[in-house]
Amino acid sequence: MAKPHVMRIEGYVIVSADGMLADASGVMPASLKFEADQRFFESALDAADLIVHGRNSFEDQPRSPQRTRIILTRSVAALGPDPSNPKATLWNPAGASFEDACRHAGITTGTAAVIGGPDVFEMFMDRFEVFWLSQAHGLTIPGGGMGGFPGVPQRSPQDILSAHGLKPEETRVLDAERRVDVTAWRRG
Ligand SMILES: NC(=O)c1ccc[n+]([C@@H]2O[C@H](COP(=O)([O-])OP(=O)(O)OC[C@H]3O[C@@H](n4cnc5c(N)ncnc54)[C@H](OP(=O)(O)O)[C@@H]3O)[C@@H](O)[C@H]2O)c1
Repeated sequence: MAKPHVMRIEGYVIVSADGMLADASGVMPASLKFEADQRFFESALDAADLIVHGRNSFEDQPRSPQRTRIILTRSVAALGPDPSNPKATLWNPAGASFEDACRHAGITTGTAAVIGGPDVFEMFMDRFEVFWLSQAHGLTIPGGGMGGFPGVPQRSPQDILSAHGLKPEETRVLDAERRVDVTAWRRG
């Protein structure tokens, strides 16, 4: 009998003061990259067993090529190999479950780190055991931006996490001078 699926799902994002994860053209600006947050993010991904993201999101770190990942795309009907990355599985949720995608990737236990974009976060909103919300409280992106989750900025990212049963448990200051911190939003 197949083993039960026991993946622990975590989320990671950094947003501006008003909840944006990218500029209005969908590009993450350099102003949202903070060394302390990048270090936090990199060590979290080093500890994860699987990375999950949409086709336009990629962490671009030195150890990225070694990481097993699932990339959401409508370019496949269900599941397939990524011709450009032997450690990546292409996944279309319209044709296969997340559990199937994990099996295709060869990872069915441990931690899956979901790293965006907004629609991908939304898909996992009721399944996150913890969501690590980094925020640059002193930064707004000129010209508006792309909200961290669908529904931002009409609602704050915090309101959305809370509506999905997550609660803020601990906040770590990452860069006091530039007012960047990360809060763990946990379930239960
Ligand atoms: N600040 C942060 O922490 C952070 C985090 C994540 C992303 N970002 C930034 O946000 C921007 C990316 O935004 P984005 O909305 O384009 O993100 P994305 O989710 O990475 O990419 C969107 C693409 O992913 C695929 N996809 C998404 N949802 C899908 C679904 N339900 N079914 C099938 N395929 C699906 C589609 O690919 P196909 O077109 O191939 O079908 C879609 O065009 C980038 O600039 C990125 O750097 C920032």
